[in-house]
Amino acid sequence: MNLVQTIMERRSVRKYKGEPVQVELMNSLLQQAASLWTSEMSSHWRCLYYDSMEARVRLAESMIAKVTGSQWGKLIPSKVTGLLTKTVLNTPALLVFIAEDAANERQRDENYAAVCSIMQNLQLLGWQHGLGMLWYTEPFMSNPSFFNEIGLKSGERLVGVLNIGYFDKSPKARKRTPAEQNWTELAATAKPTQAAKGQYVASKDVLEALNIAVWAPNDGMREPWHFIYVTDHEAVARLTPSPVNGSPSFLIVAAKKEADPHKQQEDYAAVCCLVQNFQLVAADKGWSARRSIPEWIYEHQLPISLPLDPQERIVAVLEIGTATQTPYSPATSPTFNIARL
Ligand SMILES: Cc1cc2nc3c(=O)[nH]c(=O)nc-3n(C[C@H](O)[C@H](O)[C@H](O)COP(=O)(O)O)c2cc1C
Repeated sequence: MNLVQTIMERRSVRKYKGEPVQVELMNSLLQQAASLWTSEMSSHWRCLYYDSMEARVRLAESMIAKVTGSQWGKLIPSKVTGLLTKTVLNTPALLVFIAEDAANERQRDENYAAVCSIMQNLQLLGWQHGLGMLWYTEPFMSNPSFFNEIGLKSGERLVGVLNIGYFDKSPKARKRTPAEQNWTELAATAKPTQAAKGQYVASKDVLEALNIAVWAPNDGMREPWHFIYVTDHEAVARLTPSPVNGSPSFLIVAAKKEADPHKQQEDYAAVCCLVQNFQLVAADKGWSARRSIPEWIYEHQLPISLPLDPQERIVAVLEIGTATQTPYSPATSPTFNIARL
């Protein structure tokens, strides 16, 4: 199965066969998923693997503790809590992802974005191995009992849970909105030089790649992304005084802000998955698409005027060009730890 097909055909799977998922396979897929994260951005995280019945029972109980332990919990039919428990027990394996938190907002975003991107890589790699996954983050999980079960320490942040298993039937695809409808271009008024022209990735090609990337998972099908393609060279120069790889344009990807903090976090994660899809497609096409979270996105005044809604926030800035990207080689191999519980 090729990359484009995998990105577009991957579905969130909620019904699994009973077949166990080998921890060795998950370890190897996770290693690959981490190595596909080729950014200079930091990635400090850990994850826990729940696959034995005993561990899953414990996990399910901790997840619903907020519901069962509350005053109004007694009013909730046992059918509902039973259903939640059943969801976990009928899932052959669950991976809990935890990111390092940081006092600095940019660092915090980098750590979180890295884990989201690795989770998306894992969903794609799993799909190629016949494994279905579901990103699961219900608000009721945010409770001390669940945090205690996963050993969440201060300075750590829960990113999400992936439910994993083999499946019989792929769920039906839910249509995506064409990227063109969430797209703005800041184009040059003056014609680019012949040399710069040769390095541009044409808008139609970026849109074509984005129309593959939009098959990212996103909760509630909110499709919370907005794309701004900056090809105006004066604006590009202001965004970075010394572009790496001579990239002549920028793709800025923003998340539409939700008032509810839980939804806001889910939307940020969905945009990270989309950006990861885009980077994989770009690499496949031989483009450079260096991703960063520059300092300026947190500043009150941006270096250029961007058509952003006050409710939107920038998730990633991609420096795009046709020049082959200098491969980023980290000083150390990606750090991850899968702990089986
Ligand atoms: C951050 C995030 C959180 C999600 N949380 C849930 C969830 O709690 N329950 C659920 O059923 N699906 C969840 N999803 C999956 C979406 O519902 C799913 O991606 C969407 O319906 C599109 O379907 P597809 O992934 O098959 O293309 C989540 C997805 C993301 C990216």
